[in-house]
Amino acid sequence: MHVRKINNPEEAPISLLLVADPSKKAVHDYINRGICFVLEVEKEIRGVFVLLPTRPYIIECVNIAVEERYQNKGLGKLMLTEAINIAKSNGYQTMEIGTGNSSIGQLALYQKCGFRITGVDRDFFIRHYDEEIYENGIHCRDMIRLSKDL
Ligand code: COA
Repeated sequence: MHVRKINNPEEAPISLLLVADPSKKAVHDYINRGICFVLEVEKEIRGVFVLLPTRPYIIECVNIAVEERYQNKGLGKLMLTEAINIAKSNGYQTMEIGTGNSSIGQLALYQKCGFRITGVDRDFFIRHYDEEIYENGIHCRDMIRLSKDL
C-alpha cells in the first residue's frame, strides 16, 4: 500500500474525486490548481486526495475519497495522516479542510485527526450547487471549515 503523487491531471481518478464533490467544475479546478495523490494497493487505486495551496504557509486538503467498498477500514485516516505529513515536510504551517453540515462521519474523522472548527460558511452548498444534497437525513446547506496547526 502506498501513496503516490499524480503528475498529469489526466491521470486523476475523476469518478472517485466526484464521490467527494459532485461538482465536475470544482473537481477539475482543484486538480488543475492543486496536487493530486492516490492511495494504491497492487496498482489498484483505492483512495484519492488533493492538496491545494491557498495562502502563504496554508494548504487545504480537498476531495478526499475512498472507494466505497474499502470505506470504514482506516484508509481515510491513513490518507489524511499522510496528507498532514506531506504538508509538514513541505513547510506548510496550517492545513484546512471543509465539509458539509450533514457529513457526520467526515466531521468525526477530521476531529479525530486533530482538526478544529474555525467557522461556518452559511448556505455555501445552496449558493454553489444546483442539486440539493441530503446526507444522514440532514439537508446539506452550510460548509463547516476546520483547520489544524502543523
Ligand atoms: N461517529 C463517530 N465516529 C465516526 C462516525 C460517526 N458517526 N463516522 C465515522 N467515524 C469515524 C470512525 O470511527 C473512524 O475513526 P476511528 O479510526 O477512530 O475509529 C473514522 O471516522 C473513519 O475513518 P476511516 O475508516 O479511515 O474512513 P474512510 O476510509 O471511510 O474514509 C472518507 C473517510 C470520508 C474519505 C470516506 O468515507 C469517503 O470517501 N466518503 C465519501 C467521500 C467524501 O465524503 N469525502 C469527504 C468530502 S468533505
